[in-house]
Amino acid sequence: MPVTRVLTGITTSGTPHLGNYAGAIRPAIAASLRPGVESFYFLADYHALIKVQDPARVQRSTLEIAASWLACGLQPDKVWFYRQSDIPEIPELTWLLTCVAGKGLLNRAHAYKAAVDRNREAGEDDDAGVSAGLFMYPVLMAADILMFQAHSVPVGRDQVQHIEMARDFGARFNHLYGEPVGKSFFVLPEAAIEDNVATLPGLDGRKMSKSYDNTIPLFAPRAELRKLIFSIVTDSRAPGVAKDTKGSAIFELYRAFSTRYDAEQFARAFEEGISWGEAKEALFERIDAEVAPMREKYEALMAKPIEIEAILREGAIKARKIATPLMAELRHAVGLRDLREQVVVAKAAKAKVAMPQFKQYRDDAGRFRFKLIDESGVEILESIQFASPRDAGGVIAKIRSEGPAGIEHKEGVGLFLENQLFGNLVAPAGVDRLSKALQLLAEEGA
Ligand code: TRP
Repeated sequence: MPVTRVLTGITTSGTPHLGNYAGAIRPAIAASLRPGVESFYFLADYHALIKVQDPARVQRSTLEIAASWLACGLQPDKVWFYRQSDIPEIPELTWLLTCVAGKGLLNRAHAYKAAVDRNREAGEDDDAGVSAGLFMYPVLMAADILMFQAHSVPVGRDQVQHIEMARDFGARFNHLYGEPVGKSFFVLPEAAIEDNVATLPGLDGRKMSKSYDNTIPLFAPRAELRKLIFSIVTDSRAPGVAKDTKGSAIFELYRAFSTRYDAEQFARAFEEGISWGEAKEALFERIDAEVAPMREKYEALMAKPIEIEAILREGAIKARKIATPLMAELRHAVGLRDLREQVVVAKAAKAKVAMPQFKQYRDDAGRFRFKLIDESGVEILESIQFASPRDAGGVIAKIRSEGPAGIEHKEGVGLFLENQLFGNLVAPAGVDRLSKALQLLAEEGA
Protein backbone atom coordinates (compact mmCIF):
# COMPACT_ATOMS: atom_id res chain seq x y z
CA MET A 1 0.00 0.00 0.00
CA PRO A 2 1.47 3.39 -0.88
CA VAL A 3 2.16 5.47 2.18
CA THR A 4 0.56 8.88 2.56
CA ARG A 5 2.42 11.43 4.59
CA VAL A 6 0.23 13.74 6.59
CA LEU A 7 1.76 16.74 8.30
CA THR A 8 0.34 19.22 10.80
CA GLY A 9 1.90 22.12 12.65
CA ILE A 10 0.55 23.57 15.87
CA THR A 11 1.56 27.13 16.67
CA THR A 12 2.74 27.32 20.26
CA SER A 13 1.00 30.50 21.22
CA GLY A 14 -1.77 29.42 23.56
CA THR A 15 -3.28 26.82 25.86
CA PRO A 16 -5.22 23.99 24.18
CA HIS A 17 -8.97 24.27 24.64
CA LEU A 18 -11.89 21.94 24.01
CA GLY A 19 -12.30 23.33 20.50
CA ASN A 20 -8.70 22.42 19.63
CA TYR A 21 -9.28 18.99 21.09
CA ALA A 22 -12.45 18.11 19.18
CA GLY A 23 -11.44 19.94 16.01
CA ALA A 24 -7.77 18.98 15.72
CA ILE A 25 -6.14 16.84 18.39
CA ARG A 26 -8.71 14.05 18.62
CA PRO A 27 -9.16 13.56 14.84
CA ALA A 28 -5.41 13.84 14.22
CA ILE A 29 -4.56 11.17 16.75
CA ALA A 30 -7.25 8.89 15.34
CA ALA A 31 -5.83 9.46 11.84
CA SER A 32 -2.30 8.67 12.98
CA LEU A 33 -3.42 5.15 13.89
CA ARG A 34 -4.69 4.35 10.39
CA PRO A 35 -2.63 1.96 8.28
CA GLY A 36 -0.80 3.42 5.32
CA VAL A 37 -0.37 6.81 6.96
CA GLU A 38 2.83 8.41 8.21
CA SER A 39 1.99 11.28 10.50
CA PHE A 40 4.12 14.30 11.23
CA TYR A 41 3.07 16.55 14.12
CA PHE A 42 5.24 19.39 15.15
CA LEU A 43 5.22 22.34 17.49
CA ALA A 44 5.50 25.40 15.29
CA ASP A 45 7.44 27.54 17.74
CA TYR A 46 9.15 29.67 15.09
CA HIS A 47 5.68 30.57 13.89
CA ALA A 48 4.71 31.47 17.44
CA LEU A 49 7.37 34.22 17.52
CA ILE A 50 5.43 36.07 14.84
CA LYS A 51 2.50 36.58 17.20
CA VAL A 52 3.92 36.23 20.69
CA GLN A 53 6.88 38.18 21.94
CA ASP A 54 6.64 37.06 25.51
CA PRO A 55 9.33 34.37 25.94
CA ALA A 56 7.76 32.80 29.02
CA ARG A 57 4.51 32.37 27.15
CA VAL A 58 6.18 30.71 24.18
CA GLN A 59 7.91 28.27 26.50
CA ARG A 60 4.80 27.61 28.57
CA SER A 61 2.65 27.06 25.52
CA THR A 62 5.19 24.69 23.96
CA LEU A 63 5.17 22.62 27.14
CA GLU A 64 1.38 22.64 27.42
CA ILE A 65 0.79 21.70 23.81
CA ALA A 66 3.35 18.90 23.85
CA ALA A 67 1.90 17.55 27.11
CA SER A 68 -1.63 17.78 25.71
CA TRP A 69 -0.91 15.78 22.58
CA LEU A 70 0.90 13.13 24.57
CA ALA A 71 -1.83 12.98 27.20
CA CYS A 72 -4.44 12.59 24.45
CA GLY A 73 -2.74 9.43 23.24
CA LEU A 74 -0.22 10.48 20.62
CA GLN A 75 2.35 7.72 20.41
CA PRO A 76 5.70 9.33 19.70
CA ASP A 77 7.23 6.07 18.50
CA LYS A 78 4.53 5.62 15.84
CA VAL A 79 4.64 9.14 14.45
CA TRP A 80 7.09 11.98 13.93
CA PHE A 81 6.60 14.36 16.83
CA TYR A 82 9.06 17.22 17.08
CA ARG A 83 9.64 20.87 17.76
CA GLN A 84 10.24 23.02 14.70
CA SER A 85 13.12 24.94 16.28
CA ASP A 86 15.01 21.69 16.89
CA ILE A 87 15.35 21.21 13.13
CA PRO A 88 17.96 23.72 11.90
CA GLU A 89 17.29 22.54 8.35
CA ILE A 90 13.89 24.25 8.44
CA PRO A 91 15.18 27.84 8.62
CA GLU A 92 17.88 26.85 6.16
CA LEU A 93 15.31 25.62 3.67
CA THR A 94 13.23 28.71 4.38
CA TRP A 95 16.04 30.80 2.92
CA LEU A 96 16.37 28.69 -0.21
CA LEU A 97 12.63 28.98 -0.75
CA THR A 98 12.70 32.70 0.01
CA CYS A 99 14.98 33.07 -2.99
CA VAL A 100 12.47 31.47 -5.35
CA ALA A 101 9.32 32.88 -3.75
CA GLY A 102 7.68 35.68 -5.69
CA LYS A 103 7.28 38.77 -3.54
CA GLY A 104 4.11 39.59 -5.44
CA LEU A 105 2.61 36.28 -4.40
CA LEU A 106 3.45 36.99 -0.75
CA ASN A 107 1.82 40.41 -1.06
CA ARG A 108 -1.41 38.55 -1.70
CA ALA A 109 -1.22 36.30 1.38
CA HIS A 110 -4.42 36.72 3.41
CA ALA A 111 -2.82 37.44 6.78
CA TYR A 112 -0.55 40.10 5.34
CA LYS A 113 -3.25 41.62 3.16
CA ALA A 114 -5.61 41.81 6.12
CA ALA A 115 -2.96 43.73 8.09
CA VAL A 116 -2.47 46.14 5.17
CA ASP A 117 -6.23 46.62 4.81
CA ARG A 118 -6.55 47.44 8.50
CA ASN A 119 -3.74 49.97 8.21
CA ARG A 120 -5.38 51.61 5.21
CA GLU A 121 -8.66 51.88 7.01
CA ALA A 122 -6.93 53.51 9.93
CA GLY A 123 -5.14 55.89 7.57
CA GLU A 124 -1.75 54.45 8.51
CA ASP A 125 1.19 53.50 6.37
CA ASP A 126 0.47 50.19 4.57
CA ASP A 127 3.08 48.27 6.50
CA ALA A 128 2.71 49.94 9.88
CA GLY A 129 3.31 47.37 12.61
CA VAL A 130 3.83 44.55 10.11
CA SER A 131 6.96 42.51 10.77
CA ALA A 132 8.87 40.83 7.99
CA GLY A 133 8.10 37.65 9.93
CA LEU A 134 4.38 38.02 9.25
CA PHE A 135 5.13 38.70 5.61
CA MET A 136 7.35 35.61 5.35
CA TYR A 137 5.00 33.34 7.31
CA PRO A 138 3.97 31.35 4.20
CA VAL A 139 7.57 30.65 3.24
CA LEU A 140 8.43 29.24 6.66
CA MET A 141 5.29 27.14 6.49
CA ALA A 142 6.25 25.90 3.03
CA ALA A 143 9.64 24.82 4.40
CA ASP A 144 7.86 22.87 7.17
CA ILE A 145 5.84 21.00 4.60
CA LEU A 146 8.29 20.52 1.74
CA MET A 147 11.09 19.39 4.05
CA PHE A 148 9.22 16.20 4.87
CA GLN A 149 7.66 15.49 1.47
CA ALA A 150 4.17 15.70 2.94
CA HIS A 151 1.39 14.64 0.57
CA SER A 152 -1.47 15.92 2.60
CA VAL A 153 -1.84 18.79 5.03
CA PRO A 154 -5.10 18.90 7.00
CA VAL A 155 -6.07 22.54 7.38
CA GLY A 156 -9.01 24.81 7.86
CA ARG A 157 -10.14 26.90 4.90
CA ASP A 158 -8.14 29.89 6.12
CA GLN A 159 -4.90 27.98 5.53
CA VAL A 160 -5.56 26.64 2.03
CA GLN A 161 -3.79 29.55 0.40
CA HIS A 162 -0.64 28.70 2.34
CA ILE A 163 -0.63 25.19 0.93
CA GLU A 164 -1.04 26.56 -2.57
CA MET A 165 1.93 28.80 -1.97
CA ALA A 166 3.98 25.84 -0.76
CA ARG A 167 3.12 24.08 -4.02
CA ASP A 168 4.14 27.16 -5.96
CA PHE A 169 7.53 27.51 -4.24
CA GLY A 170 8.15 23.76 -4.46
CA ALA A 171 7.30 23.68 -8.17
CA ARG A 172 9.57 26.63 -8.88
CA PHE A 173 12.42 25.03 -7.04
CA ASN A 174 11.90 21.69 -8.77
CA HIS A 175 11.78 23.41 -12.11
CA LEU A 176 14.79 25.63 -11.58
CA TYR A 177 17.15 23.19 -9.88
CA GLY A 178 15.60 19.77 -10.42
CA GLU A 179 14.74 19.63 -14.09
CA PRO A 180 18.28 20.27 -15.37
CA VAL A 181 19.51 17.25 -13.38
CA GLY A 182 16.41 15.10 -13.89
CA LYS A 183 15.24 15.26 -10.30
CA SER A 184 12.22 16.33 -8.41
CA PHE A 185 13.23 17.44 -4.94
CA PHE A 186 9.85 18.21 -3.49
CA VAL A 187 6.50 16.49 -3.37
CA LEU A 188 3.80 19.07 -4.05
CA PRO A 189 1.40 18.93 -1.10
CA GLU A 190 -2.40 18.94 -1.18
CA ALA A 191 -4.58 20.69 1.35
CA ALA A 192 -7.00 18.28 3.02
CA ILE A 193 -9.81 20.62 3.93
CA GLU A 194 -11.48 19.78 7.17
CA ASP A 195 -15.03 20.82 6.66
CA ASN A 196 -16.68 18.10 8.62
CA VAL A 197 -14.62 18.25 11.77
CA ALA A 198 -16.36 19.68 14.75
CA THR A 199 -16.08 23.37 15.42
CA LEU A 200 -17.31 23.90 18.94
CA PRO A 201 -19.18 26.86 20.31
CA GLY A 202 -17.53 28.74 23.16
CA LEU A 203 -18.91 30.20 26.37
CA ASP A 204 -20.77 32.97 24.52
CA GLY A 205 -22.10 30.75 21.72
CA ARG A 206 -19.68 32.04 19.08
CA LYS A 207 -17.02 29.67 17.73
CA MET A 208 -14.67 28.67 20.53
CA SER A 209 -11.52 30.63 19.85
CA LYS A 210 -8.75 32.29 21.74
CA SER A 211 -9.41 35.51 19.87
CA TYR A 212 -12.96 35.68 21.28
CA ASP A 213 -11.74 34.89 24.80
CA ASN A 214 -14.56 32.36 25.17
CA THR A 215 -12.63 29.12 25.53
CA ILE A 216 -12.77 26.23 27.94
CA PRO A 217 -9.22 24.97 28.56
CA LEU A 218 -8.97 21.29 27.68
CA PHE A 219 -7.38 20.41 30.98
CA ALA A 220 -9.03 22.83 33.34
CA PRO A 221 -9.26 21.14 36.77
CA ARG A 222 -12.61 19.45 37.40
CA ALA A 223 -14.01 22.23 39.59
CA GLU A 224 -13.03 24.92 37.11
CA LEU A 225 -14.43 22.92 34.20
CA ARG A 226 -17.75 22.73 36.02
CA LYS A 227 -17.73 26.43 36.75
CA LEU A 228 -16.98 27.29 33.14
CA ILE A 229 -19.67 24.98 31.80
CA PHE A 230 -22.19 26.54 34.16
CA SER A 231 -21.24 29.96 32.81
CA ILE A 232 -22.22 29.07 29.21
CA VAL A 233 -24.82 31.50 27.95
CA THR A 234 -28.32 30.04 27.44
CA ASP A 235 -31.74 31.50 26.79
CA SER A 236 -34.03 32.08 29.74
CA ARG A 237 -36.46 29.22 29.23
CA ALA A 238 -37.70 27.87 32.55
CA PRO A 239 -37.55 24.23 33.63
CA GLY A 240 -40.37 22.23 32.05
CA VAL A 241 -40.42 24.37 28.93
CA ALA A 242 -39.18 22.68 25.74
CA LYS A 243 -35.75 23.91 24.64
CA ASP A 244 -34.23 24.32 21.20
CA THR A 245 -31.25 22.13 20.38
CA LYS A 246 -30.60 24.23 17.31
CA GLY A 247 -28.17 26.99 18.14
CA SER A 248 -27.71 25.68 21.66
CA ALA A 249 -24.06 25.69 22.74
CA ILE A 250 -24.89 23.17 25.46
CA PHE A 251 -26.32 20.76 22.92
CA GLU A 252 -23.50 21.22 20.39
CA LEU A 253 -20.85 20.62 23.02
CA TYR A 254 -22.67 17.56 24.29
CA ARG A 255 -22.90 16.16 20.80
CA ALA A 256 -19.15 16.54 20.25
CA PHE A 257 -18.55 14.30 23.23
CA SER A 258 -21.13 11.59 22.73
CA THR A 259 -22.39 8.87 20.45
CA ARG A 260 -25.23 9.61 18.10
CA TYR A 261 -27.59 7.65 20.27
CA ASP A 262 -26.73 9.61 23.39
CA ALA A 263 -27.05 12.88 21.51
CA GLU A 264 -30.55 11.85 20.41
CA GLN A 265 -31.47 11.06 24.00
CA PHE A 266 -30.20 14.46 25.02
CA ALA A 267 -32.28 16.10 22.28
CA ARG A 268 -35.31 14.28 23.65
CA ALA A 269 -34.57 15.69 27.11
CA PHE A 270 -34.49 19.17 25.56
CA GLU A 271 -37.93 18.61 24.06
CA GLU A 272 -39.17 17.41 27.40
CA GLY A 273 -38.06 20.59 29.08
CA ILE A 274 -34.91 19.62 30.95
CA SER A 275 -33.77 22.58 33.05
CA TRP A 276 -30.60 24.40 31.96
CA GLY A 277 -29.03 23.48 35.28
CA GLU A 278 -29.61 19.77 34.70
CA ALA A 279 -28.47 20.04 31.08
CA LYS A 280 -25.27 21.73 32.15
CA GLU A 281 -24.68 19.12 34.81
CA ALA A 282 -25.10 16.35 32.23
CA LEU A 283 -22.76 18.14 29.82
CA PHE A 284 -20.17 18.63 32.52
CA GLU A 285 -20.20 14.97 33.53
CA ARG A 286 -20.04 13.90 29.90
CA ILE A 287 -17.00 16.02 29.07
CA ASP A 288 -15.30 15.22 32.33
CA ALA A 289 -15.72 11.49 31.71
CA GLU A 290 -13.74 11.79 28.47
CA VAL A 291 -11.20 14.28 29.71
CA ALA A 292 -10.48 13.10 33.26
CA PRO A 293 -8.15 10.18 32.43
CA MET A 294 -6.21 12.37 30.01
CA ARG A 295 -6.12 15.20 32.53
CA GLU A 296 -4.40 12.90 34.97
CA LYS A 297 -1.73 12.06 32.40
CA TYR A 298 -1.44 15.71 31.47
CA GLU A 299 -0.81 16.77 35.03
CA ALA A 300 1.78 14.04 35.47
CA LEU A 301 3.55 15.15 32.28
CA MET A 302 3.44 18.83 33.19
CA ALA A 303 5.19 17.93 36.41
CA LYS A 304 7.99 16.26 34.43
CA PRO A 305 9.19 18.67 31.76
CA ILE A 306 12.40 16.62 31.59
CA GLU A 307 10.46 13.76 30.04
CA ILE A 308 8.74 15.96 27.50
CA GLU A 309 12.02 17.58 26.57
CA ALA A 310 13.53 14.12 26.06
CA ILE A 311 10.63 12.99 23.87
CA LEU A 312 10.94 16.09 21.70
CA ARG A 313 14.68 15.64 21.32
CA GLU A 314 14.17 12.03 20.30
CA GLY A 315 11.59 13.28 17.84
CA ALA A 316 14.06 15.78 16.42
CA ILE A 317 16.64 13.05 15.88
CA LYS A 318 14.06 11.01 14.01
CA ALA A 319 12.89 13.96 11.91
CA ARG A 320 16.43 15.03 11.07
CA LYS A 321 17.09 11.59 9.61
CA ILE A 322 14.89 12.89 6.81
CA ALA A 323 15.81 16.56 6.90
CA THR A 324 19.60 16.39 7.05
CA PRO A 325 20.24 14.31 3.91
CA LEU A 326 17.63 16.22 1.93
CA MET A 327 19.17 19.53 2.96
CA ALA A 328 22.59 18.31 1.86
CA GLU A 329 21.13 17.50 -1.54
CA LEU A 330 19.42 20.87 -1.76
CA ARG A 331 22.55 22.80 -0.82
CA HIS A 332 24.37 20.99 -3.56
CA ALA A 333 21.58 21.59 -6.02
CA VAL A 334 21.69 25.36 -5.58
CA GLY A 335 25.49 25.54 -5.71
CA LEU A 336 26.43 25.70 -2.02
CA ARG A 337 29.11 23.11 -2.62
CA ASP A 338 32.35 21.69 -1.43
CA LEU A 339 35.00 23.56 -3.42
CA ARG A 340 37.16 20.48 -3.72
CA GLU A 341 34.53 19.04 -5.96
CA GLN A 342 35.26 19.46 -9.62
CA VAL A 343 33.72 22.64 -10.86
CA VAL A 344 31.56 21.98 -13.84
CA VAL A 345 30.45 25.17 -15.46
CA ALA A 346 27.34 24.55 -17.44
CA LYS A 347 28.63 24.42 -21.00
CA ALA A 348 27.78 27.51 -22.87
CA ALA A 349 24.82 25.70 -24.41
CA LYS A 350 23.42 29.19 -24.09
CA ALA A 351 21.27 28.72 -21.05
CA LYS A 352 17.99 28.48 -22.85
CA VAL A 353 15.69 31.15 -21.55
CA ALA A 354 12.77 29.37 -20.00
CA MET A 355 9.49 30.11 -21.73
CA PRO A 356 5.88 29.52 -20.81
CA GLN A 357 4.43 26.48 -22.51
CA PHE A 358 1.04 25.20 -23.51
CA LYS A 359 0.57 21.51 -22.87
CA GLN A 360 -2.26 19.50 -24.37
CA TYR A 361 -3.46 16.39 -22.64
CA ARG A 362 -6.36 14.03 -22.20
CA ASP A 363 -8.13 14.18 -18.87
CA ASP A 364 -9.49 11.28 -16.82
CA ALA A 365 -12.79 11.53 -18.65
CA GLY A 366 -11.00 11.07 -21.97
CA ARG A 367 -11.67 14.65 -23.05
CA PHE A 368 -9.11 17.04 -24.43
CA ARG A 369 -7.69 19.90 -22.48
CA PHE A 370 -4.65 22.09 -22.27
CA LYS A 371 -2.82 23.93 -19.57
CA LEU A 372 -0.37 26.77 -19.54
CA ILE A 373 2.81 26.33 -17.56
CA ASP A 374 4.58 29.60 -16.87
CA GLU A 375 8.28 30.25 -17.41
CA SER A 376 9.09 29.06 -13.88
CA GLY A 377 7.30 25.74 -14.30
CA VAL A 378 4.14 26.58 -12.40
CA GLU A 379 0.75 25.72 -13.85
CA ILE A 380 -1.29 28.89 -14.16
CA LEU A 381 -4.18 28.06 -16.47
CA GLU A 382 -6.35 25.04 -17.10
CA SER A 383 -8.71 24.86 -20.03
CA ILE A 384 -12.25 23.56 -20.17
CA GLN A 385 -12.83 20.21 -21.90
CA PHE A 386 -12.77 20.06 -25.67
CA ALA A 387 -14.19 17.39 -27.92
CA SER A 388 -11.03 16.98 -29.97
CA PRO A 389 -7.34 17.88 -29.87
CA ARG A 390 -7.96 20.09 -32.89
CA ASP A 391 -10.49 22.18 -30.99
CA ALA A 392 -8.09 22.57 -28.10
CA GLY A 393 -5.22 23.39 -30.45
CA GLY A 394 -7.33 25.98 -32.26
CA VAL A 395 -7.99 27.84 -29.03
CA ILE A 396 -4.31 27.74 -28.10
CA ALA A 397 -3.40 29.24 -31.48
CA LYS A 398 -5.93 32.01 -30.99
CA ILE A 399 -4.69 32.79 -27.50
CA ARG A 400 -1.13 32.99 -28.80
CA SER A 401 -2.03 35.33 -31.59
CA GLU A 402 -4.31 37.56 -29.52
CA GLY A 403 -1.91 37.91 -26.59
CA PRO A 404 -2.95 39.22 -23.17
CA ALA A 405 -5.19 41.92 -24.61
CA GLY A 406 -7.55 39.37 -26.15
CA ILE A 407 -8.31 37.65 -22.89
CA GLU A 408 -10.96 38.64 -20.45
CA HIS A 409 -10.98 37.41 -16.87
CA LYS A 410 -14.33 37.33 -15.10
CA GLU A 411 -13.76 36.95 -11.40
CA GLY A 412 -15.23 33.69 -10.16
CA VAL A 413 -16.34 32.65 -13.66
CA GLY A 414 -13.29 32.06 -15.77
CA LEU A 415 -11.28 33.19 -18.74
CA PHE A 416 -12.92 34.30 -21.97
CA LEU A 417 -11.71 34.70 -25.52
CA GLU A 418 -14.12 36.31 -27.96
CA ASN A 419 -16.81 35.94 -25.31
CA GLN A 420 -16.28 32.19 -25.11
CA LEU A 421 -15.32 30.61 -21.83
CA PHE A 422 -12.15 28.60 -22.43
CA GLY A 423 -10.60 27.96 -19.05
CA ASN A 424 -9.71 29.02 -15.55
CA LEU A 425 -6.78 30.41 -13.66
CA VAL A 426 -5.12 27.87 -11.41
CA ALA A 427 -4.69 29.20 -7.86
CA PRO A 428 -2.62 30.95 -6.66
CA ALA A 429 -1.77 32.52 -10.01
CA GLY A 430 -3.48 35.81 -10.73
CA VAL A 431 -4.32 37.49 -14.04
CA ASP A 432 -1.04 39.37 -13.84
CA ARG A 433 0.88 36.10 -14.07
CA LEU A 434 -1.19 35.01 -17.04
CA SER A 435 -0.65 38.33 -18.79
CA LYS A 436 3.06 38.11 -18.22
CA ALA A 437 3.24 34.59 -19.65
CA LEU A 438 1.18 35.54 -22.70
CA GLN A 439 3.30 38.61 -23.20
CA LEU A 440 6.44 36.48 -23.21
CA LEU A 441 4.91 34.15 -25.77
CA ALA A 442 3.79 37.05 -27.91
CA GLU A 443 7.32 38.49 -27.86
CA GLU A 444 8.74 35.10 -28.75
CA GLY A 445 6.35 34.82 -31.69
CA ALA A 446 7.10 38.34 -32.91
N1 TRP B 1 -0.08 28.03 10.17
C1 TRP B 1 -0.59 26.97 10.99
C2 TRP B 1 -1.66 27.52 11.94
O1 TRP B 1 -1.65 28.69 12.24
C3 TRP B 1 0.50 26.30 11.79
C4 TRP B 1 1.53 25.71 10.90
C5 TRP B 1 2.83 26.07 10.79
C6 TRP B 1 1.33 24.63 10.00
N2 TRP B 1 3.47 25.30 9.87
C7 TRP B 1 2.58 24.40 9.36
C8 TRP B 1 0.22 23.84 9.67
C9 TRP B 1 2.72 23.41 8.40
C10 TRP B 1 0.37 22.86 8.70
C11 TRP B 1 1.62 22.63 8.07
O2 TRP B 1 -2.50 26.78 12.37
